Amino acid sequence: MDQGRAPVRFEHVVRRFRSVVALDDLCLDIAAGEFITLLGPSGSGKTTALNILAGFDRATSGEVVIGERAVGALPPEKRNVGMVFQSFALFPHMSVFENVAFPLRMRKVNSSEVKARVFRALEMVQLTGFGDRRPAALSGGQRQRVALARAVVAEPPVLLMDESLSALDLKLREELQEEIRRLHRDLGTTVLFVTHDQGEALTLSDRVALMNRGRICQLGTPDALYDRPANRFVADFIGRTNIVPVDGDGHNASVGLETVAEHAVALSIRPEKLRRVRGQGDIVFDAVVQDVAFKGATMELRLRTSSGLILRMSEPRTGGQSAPALGETIRIGFAPHDATPLYE
Ligand SMILES: Nc1ncnc2c1ncn2[C@@H]1O[C@H](COP(=O)(O)OP(=O)(O)OP(=O)(O)O)[C@@H](O)[C@H]1O
Ligand SMILES: [Mg+2]
Repeated sequence: MDQGRAPVRFEHVVRRFRSVVALDDLCLDIAAGEFITLLGPSGSGKTTALNILAGFDRATSGEVVIGERAVGALPPEKRNVGMVFQSFALFPHMSVFENVAFPLRMRKVNSSEVKARVFRALEMVQLTGFGDRRPAALSGGQRQRVALARAVVAEPPVLLMDESLSALDLKLREELQEEIRRLHRDLGTTVLFVTHDQGEALTLSDRVALMNRGRICQLGTPDALYDRPANRFVADFIGRTNIVPVDGDGHNASVGLETVAEHAVALSIRPEKLRRVRGQGDIVFDAVVQDVAFKGATMELRLRTSSGLILRMSEPRTGGQSAPALGETIRIGFAPHDATPLYE
């Protein structure tokens, strides 16, 4: 029954709801065993993409392929995907064991095998010994784990998760993130994960597809999205950054830069790439300190340049430097390669 893992492909998928274009020519190639996250603001088309892949919705045009098979016309149960959707409740009248066993019963797996697999799945999500309980006797996080066990028990070649951790508190969420990573490693399943939490996306994924208005605006590894955002939307969405506009000639004198890349419309400079300098740095400029906030491991400064541009700077509190006074003018530097040109 184990069918290993499968590549997944969205081929020019369009989904229109009357005048709303929820997916606008979505193309995405996911390798077998890869962990891909669809990340993006509310309404960007993430759930629509998952629903079309799972078979709960149909594309207006285009095709979805699982393995080598076009599945657009198949009902959900024939597509062989596991799902953990936030709205997918457990069966309240069934025990935890029977909830997890359900996909195996549907496939008419014999009962000794069901038992072995359910125990293994419960062990994976650290719920050994919970088999006899009803869902009502579990915490929210434990219920999420049961849903996860149910999604993986039949070892589907593709696993879909839509905002599966969003309702949980931070600590539980981090625990389950670790579990999902481990499950992915152990089972080798292809995972398509949906979240609007960029931290979660960067932590879990091999690659992240950042979506906006039904399109992928950048697809890449977490570090590529963070270090080399393609445009203002990506730079702003992933992490925090300073967007520094440049004029038609590519200048922005207020941060000490003479010229930037040709055709660039702005620069992205991460707050942690700015530093206080004494003497000569690579690129230097003066700025007035407007606010200083202690954040434990870092100190966050708000700075105003000579042109009135507001910049945020994050300084590690490794000792040595004392906080600057409000209104003080300090010299700031950054390395030229830390100013990423943005072209739109
Ligand atoms: N059944 C529907 N009828 C009409 N419009 C819909 C329907 N389902 C989704 N849409 C619209 O399609 C667009 C994409 O919705 P989708 O649910 O895919 O967004 P999402 O990225 O999952 O957002 P969220 O982060 O809020 O869950 C939205 O503009 C939404 O209003
Ligand atoms: Mg959604």
